[in-house]
Amino acid sequence: MAFPQTRMRRLRASAGLRGLVRETDLRAGQLVLPMFVTEAGAPAAQGGREPIATMPGVDRLSLSAAVAEAREAAALGVAAVMLFGLPAEKDEQGSSAWDPEGVVQLATRAIKQAVPELLVITDVCLCEYTSHGHCGVLSAGPGAPRVDNDASLELLAQTAVSHARAGADLVAPSDMMDGRVRAIREQLDEEGFSETPILAYSAKFASAFYGPFREAADSAPAFGDRRGYQMDPANGREAVREALLDVQEGADMVLVKPALAYGDLISAVKRATRLPVAAYNVSGEYAMVKAAAAAGYVDEQATVLEILTSLRRAGAETIITYHAKDAARWLAEQT
Ligand code: PBG
Repeated sequence: MAFPQTRMRRLRASAGLRGLVRETDLRAGQLVLPMFVTEAGAPAAQGGREPIATMPGVDRLSLSAAVAEAREAAALGVAAVMLFGLPAEKDEQGSSAWDPEGVVQLATRAIKQAVPELLVITDVCLCEYTSHGHCGVLSAGPGAPRVDNDASLELLAQTAVSHARAGADLVAPSDMMDGRVRAIREQLDEEGFSETPILAYSAKFASAFYGPFREAADSAPAFGDRRGYQMDPANGREAVREALLDVQEGADMVLVKPALAYGDLISAVKRATRLPVAAYNVSGEYAMVKAAAAAGYVDEQATVLEILTSLRRAGAETIITYHAKDAARWLAEQT
C-alpha cells in the first residue's frame, strides 16, 4: 500500500520509535584500535609519544606508552588493539619482523601481561621492516626487482608464529602474497598454535588512502609501488575471489580495506564467505575527517559515528579504526 496509507515518517517521530526499529548497532566491543609502537623510543619528555603529523590524535608510542594506551582502550570497552611495529633497524629481508625480541613481540607480551582481557591482533607484513619498504622479499634475478611471492611465504609464516608465541590473540597478514594464509596456518599448527585464528586482509587494494600510514610507519616503498600485489580498486569480483581463496586456505575472518569507498565489497564478501568480516577504516579516511572537522566543515562526532555505523550496515562485524577510543567514549555518553 502506498501513500496516504503508508507513511514512512510514522516510525521516525520520536527517539523511542527510531530506536525501536533501528537495524544496525554500533558497540565499542566491535572496535579495534591500531597502534604504532616504536623501538627507537619516542621522546620520554613527551611521555613516550611522538605525534604523527598526518594523523592528528595518533602518536608513535614507546613500549610503555603503548601499554598505557592499551589500558585506556580497554577501559573504554574497545575490543582489541592492532599492533604495527617500527623497528630500530631495517634490512633487505625484514628480519626484525620475526625477531622474538622485536618491537611487536615485546609490545604484545607487555600488553597481554598488563591488560589480559584486551585482545591483541598483530599485523603480519614485512614492509615496516624491509629497507626497500615492500611487503615481501625481492627476487635476486636481473632486471627490475620484483617482490618474490613464494620466498616471502616462509618469512611471513615465521613472523606470524613469533607473534603467536608472544601471545597474540589473532594474527592478521596484510602482505597480499598468494598462499600466505595457508603457509601461516600450517606453520602455526606445526608449532603448537592451532588455536590462534587468522584474520586475513583478503581484499586489500592498492590505495591512495594509505598515505598517512606510510608516513607514520615509514613504510613507503623505496621504488615502484604496490600494484603488483595489492588489488586494483576497479575490481569487485576479484575481491570476492580473493576472500574465497583465503577461506579455502584457512582464514577465520576476512578483511576489506580501505573501508569507505568499498562498502559494496564489504557486503559482497560477507554474502560470499559467511565468515565474520572486518572493515579497515584506514589512515587517509581518518585524516580526511580530522582535517574537515578541524576546519569546522563537519561535526567530528556525528561524522565518525555515521561512518562507523555505515560499515556495520554494509556487513562488517568488526571495525578497525583510529577513531576507536573517541567513538567508544561517545557511544558510552549516548547511553
Ligand atoms: C602494510 C599495511 C598498510 C596498512 C596496514 N598494513 C600499508 C600499505 O599497505 O601500504 C595501511 C593502514 C592504514 O592506512 O591505516 N603492512
